[in-house]
Formats: sequence, structure tokens, C-alpha cells
Amino acid sequence: MGYENSDGEHPSVVLADVSRRPEINAQIIVFANEKGGVGKSTLAFHTTIALARAGHKVLAIDLDRRQGSFSRALDNRQATARSLGIELPSPKHFVLEHQSGAMMMQEIARVGRGCTKIVIDLPGHDSPIARRAIAMAHKLITPVNATFVDLDSIAHFNPATMQYSNMGRFTETVSQLQELKQGTDLPKTDWVLVKNRMRRNEKKQLDRFNLAIEQLPQKLGLRLASGLSERVSYRDLFMFGLTHADCIQLPEMDGVRVHKSADMDRLINELDFGDPPADLAPLPPVKARKPARTMARYRQSLRTHIGAKEHVTTSR
Ligand SMILES: Nc1ncnc2c1ncn2[C@@H]1O[C@H](COP(=O)(O)OP(=O)(O)O)[C@@H](O)[C@H]1O
Ligand SMILES: [Mg+2]
Repeated sequence: MGYENSDGEHPSVVLADVSRRPEINAQIIVFANEKGGVGKSTLAFHTTIALARAGHKVLAIDLDRRQGSFSRALDNRQATARSLGIELPSPKHFVLEHQSGAMMMQEIARVGRGCTKIVIDLPGHDSPIARRAIAMAHKLITPVNATFVDLDSIAHFNPATMQYSNMGRFTETVSQLQELKQGTDLPKTDWVLVKNRMRRNEKKQLDRFNLAIEQLPQKLGLRLASGLSERVSYRDLFMFGLTHADCIQLPEMDGVRVHKSADMDRLINELDFGDPPADLAPLPPVKARKPARTMARYRQSLRTHIGAKEHVTTSR
């Protein structure tokens, strides 16, 4: 059988490589789809912060060294914390520059000591390191924009009947690894498909899309989560490295009106990351006071960019 990945590497080689590495004592959560612009980095970021805020010790790994969006959002978060003179619950993080299985394991051992959750953000294309991350995943989270064009990497459908016809490229990669993993010690993967950027004004199209993807759990062994609407705040908050929950809870955000994101809260619940640690540490106290002018300027910027009334896009 030919393997339609970018370099012809057989999935058994990927599994053999991953199996001989030292065991990792953390839940591995991977955001992946062989497609760019579907929300992998956005969801990876929000999930990471939700886990950190819940008291988990999180290691965030950005495998998309060209885009680097995930790590940039985390850098932005540190810059925001510095500018406001506060501490924000945050993960440790790194971008993997030398992309081999050995280097990934070395950095996990070096940077991630004591971490109980590892969140990995992949680029939108196949590669040996991406396949290794997928093979190691306890949870594989695949965002898709809610259109048929975007679903192409996952599955193909008969356009007349909307019946499932065959797997897309990314699903082939995942399925081959899953199949070969059976009977090995490698963890079984909980694969979750998440609809992203749903627009309220496209209800008819969304109904057809839902009809199609509802066939996928049975055909592909994945599960569906309810998904996220198109919201400008996902873009604006990214720039500051903040989530809705940060804005609501931090007194420093006084005057910035950001509403709780119910769909993100629901998604985190559905993804089901297990209980938060029993010895939950309280939010760390303010560390260093900043000059009042710096903080005032930063707050003003937050107000300008993310304080405007939240609007859910209703037109294209
Ligand atoms: N639910 C959403 N609502 C609005 N914009 C979103 C949403 N999810 C993602 N985006 C935006 O879509 C673009 C692509 O998202 P990104 O997370 O970078 O995708 P990927 O990592 O899959 O390439 C970014 O500009 C991001 O801010
Ligand atoms: Mg990305």
C-alpha cells in the first residue's frame, strides 16, 4: 500500500520511533488538521490558558515554527502581564526549531518537568514531526471551518445525496496511525472534530454541513464537539494573549467590557480534560508595580481593541 504523506514514511516507522522514547507522564493534547486557517492556534491558545487557569501545570509546544502564532500569543500574554504589572496563569512554552522526535522529547524533558498537560499546536501540513505528535496524542483536536471546502481534508461527500464517500488526506494519516496503534502500549486517542467560525446568517448551509459531519463518528471513529461561532474577540484577544475569562476576572481590566464566551466554556467542558488538581493554587499576587502611565496606556489600548461591544459576524 502506498502512503500518501509528503515523504513516503510508513506509519509503522512513526510508531516504532514514538514507542522507544521514554514515557511521558502528562496528558498530550494535539491540535491538528492538514489545513491552515481553521483555528488550530486560536483553539490551542484558549485551551492552554483555560487549563492553566484551572490550576494545571501546562507545557505549550509550537510546532509551526513558520507561523509561530501559538507562541506569539503566549509571548503577548507575558508582555501584557508585564505592562500591567500583574501575573497571569500561563504555561511554559517553546517553539521546536529542530524538528525531530528526539529533539521534541529532549525539550519536553528539559522544559516540561512536572507538567501534567502538554498542548501541541501543529502547522497545517503533513510532516514527520506532525505524525509523531499525532501518534503520541491522548486527545487530538481538529478544528474545521464550517464549510465543505474546509472539510475536504477530513472527508468527501456525494454532493447529490450528502452521503459520506471516502476519507480526506488528514483522516488517512490519523487512521493509519490509529489502526497500527491497536495492541501496542501507545495511548488510545480521543479524536474530536470541532466546528469553528460558524456564522448565524448561514443557517441553511450549516444545516447541510451538520448533516454531513453527523455521519463521521460512525465512519471515522471520532467524536463531534459543538463548536465556536465567528467572533471578533477571538482575534482581538489573541493580540494581547488574553482570554475572555482573564478579562472578566482581572481587576486591572476595569472598564473593559468583554463578555464571557459561553461557547468556549462549553467546548472546554466537552473536550473533557479531567479534574483540576486538588491543590489548586490561587491566582498569583501582583508582582511588580508599573509606572501609572504605562498601565494607563495599556488599559486604554485594551479598551480600544477589545472593549468595544462584542459583535458576532452576521455578514460575509
Ligand atoms: N471563532 C473565530 N472567530 C473569529 N476569528 C477566528 C475564529 N477562529 C479563528 N479565527 C481567526 O482565523 C484566523 C486563522 O486562525 P488560526 O488559529 O491562526 O488558524 P490555524 O492555526 O489553523 O492556521 C486567525 O486570524 C484567527 O484569529
Ligand atoms: Mg496555526
